[in-house]
Order: sequence, then C-alpha cells, then structure tokens
Amino acid sequence: AETLAKLRMGRADDLLTTLCLATDKPIMLAPAMNRLMWSNAATQDNVLVLKQRGFTLLEPAEGEQACGEVGAGRMPEPLAIFNAVVAFQTKFQEQQKQTDQAWSNAKSFWLGKKLLITAGPTFEDIDPVRFIGNRSSGKMGFAIADVATKLGAKVTLVAGPVQLATPVNVERINVRSALQMFDIVQTVYADADCFISAAAVADFRVAQPAEQKLKKQPGLDNMTLELVKNPDIVAWVSEQSDKPFVVGFAAETQNVIEYAKDKLKRKNLDMICANQVGEFQGFEQNDNALTLITETEEVVQSLSSKTQQAIALLSFIAKQSF
Ligand code: PMT
Repeated sequence: AETLAKLRMGRADDLLTTLCLATDKPIMLAPAMNRLMWSNAATQDNVLVLKQRGFTLLEPAEGEQACGEVGAGRMPEPLAIFNAVVAFQTKFQEQQKQTDQAWSNAKSFWLGKKLLITAGPTFEDIDPVRFIGNRSSGKMGFAIADVATKLGAKVTLVAGPVQLATPVNVERINVRSALQMFDIVQTVYADADCFISAAAVADFRVAQPAEQKLKKQPGLDNMTLELVKNPDIVAWVSEQSDKPFVVGFAAETQNVIEYAKDKLKRKNLDMICANQVGEFQGFEQNDNALTLITETEEVVQSLSSKTQQAIALLSFIAKQSF
C-alpha cells in the first residue's frame, strides 16, 4: 500500500521507487496487503490512477492472509506471478519490436513536414453554465502530436476543451465549439501537408444558446432544445482543391469497419482510422486499437498505448507517399 502511494506521488526516496520513476519501460505491479488496506478508498484510488498512467496490475488473490484475516489482498501464488510476468514481457517485447520498426519507417518521411491535428471534444453551449459535450479526452490526438514532433514534423494542434499539457514544440490553438474549430482549420489548413482529424466534433449545436442561465419553470416537466447541424470540418478540408493528405477517424460502437469505410468514401478521405468506442474503450483510456484503412489497404493494430498507436499511424501514413 505504501509503495503504491509513493508511485502515485512520483516519489523516489528508495531504490525501487527511484527505478520506477527513472525508467521509460512498462511496469507491472503485483500488490499484496491486508484486505482492509487493499479495499481502502485511498489504495483503490492510487491503483486507479496508476492504471490510467499505464501501469499493468496483477490483482491480488483472495483467501487467508499472513495477518490471520481472510479476504482480497493475499499474494498470488509465485507461479501465477511468474507466468503473468512472462506473458507481460513477451507482449511488451513484441510491441516494442513493431514500434521500433514503425519509428524508423516514419522518421525520414516526417522530418520537416507540416501536420495539422484536431483533438478532443467540442462543447456546444446551451446557456452560460451548461453545454452538450462528449467523452473525448484528447489523449489520442495529443499522442499523435507528440510523436509527430519527435519525428521532426512541425505540428499545429487545434485542441477542444481538454485537461492535457501541450507536448513540447507543438503549436497549440485552444477552441471550445465546433464552429471555433472550423474557423481555425479554415485559416490554417492550406499550409499543412497532412491533416489528421482526431477530434470528436459535435455533429449538432444548440440553435439559440441562452444568454442567461435557463431557470426551471414551475409546472414545466419537459424541455426541448432545437439543434442545428455543425459544418463537417474534415469533409470540408477534403473538398478543397489545395487540400493536404486527409486522415479522418471513425469512432463507432458497432459495425466499426463497415461504418468507417462508408465515412472514408462519403467524406472523400485519403485514409481513416477506425476505433471501437464505448465504456472503457477508445475514449479517455491510455490504450487504443486502431484499424488503418485506405481505399486499397486495411491494417489492424492490436491494443497498445495511444503513443504506440500514433507511431503505427504515422508510419502507415509515411507509406502512402503524398
Ligand atoms: O480523445 P480520446 O479520449 O483519446 O479518444 C479518442 C477518440 C475516440 C476521440 C478518437 O480516437 C476518435 O475516434 N476521434 C474521432 C471521433 C469522432 O468524432 O468520430 P466520428 O465518427 O463522429 O467522425 C468522423 C470524422 O469526422 C472524424 O475524423 C471527426 O473528427 C470528423 N468530424 C465529425 C463531425 C464534424 N462536424 N466535423 C468533423 O470533422
């Protein structure tokens, strides 16, 4: 419990926590402790944050504990830990090999290229305190921006309202609504070699946002909001005669590949990245699994960090020669 708390805080006052802080390798945790310490809200909160940061957790076992109590928190059998470590390491090495290959494929291509990316949600105001939004955290688009700059590209990132730090050397322009995002993209797209539309743009906005906070009216049990269609930003870029190479995303909860292919055609995109979204998938998570689709190719990426997905995606684009 103490080590989890220290890892969460980023402390480095002993050898173990120092090593964990000073590595870029993945870390697996196999915590074991008294059942009440394990179920304590503080410990569970630490575990959640560490998982969100990419730590892999081997859940403790249940049963009799060293202190004599019985419950969840018991150390898993050594063989179970050993097998989990071997599986974890094999998966990591395989992913690392693919990532290294993708990185070297992409490096010479992106050096000096100009890349425009949209990321995050858009918020469509109802009144000064309420809005219509969605669950995009911006992590996918920010990971692409981060990797692309490290590969030598000049990146402009148009970010919806998200709580993420700007990757080093990225030019970031903050927006709130789809109309604001559209305005910026219209101004800057012509300078880009490639446009990646990773933002979850609201399809509709409130026709007439109220100037003052809407009040509850006595006896009024229903309320109707009139919505009007937002411009389709990525489709608009694709229509321009001086358009860059255009990459869209498709976030779907079902028929992912079929719907993505339909969007590829309908929006006249050069490429689309399909991802399944839903609770604990796609949105907000650190991991993702993209299928990269062009008119002639379809490449399935297995689940990995959004950074690894970004490397694979930028390497795939590099092969499209534009
Ligand atoms: O931000 P994260 O939490 O990391 O989550 C990542 C993600 C799931 C948001 C991302 O991987 C993703 O799928 N982004 C696109 C989400 C989306 O809006 O998909 P869509 O299928 O509704 O839209 C299709 C494409 O049209 C997208 O490229 C979108 O940016 C674009 N679009 C949509 C509507 C609109 N008015 N303008 C657009 O440009």
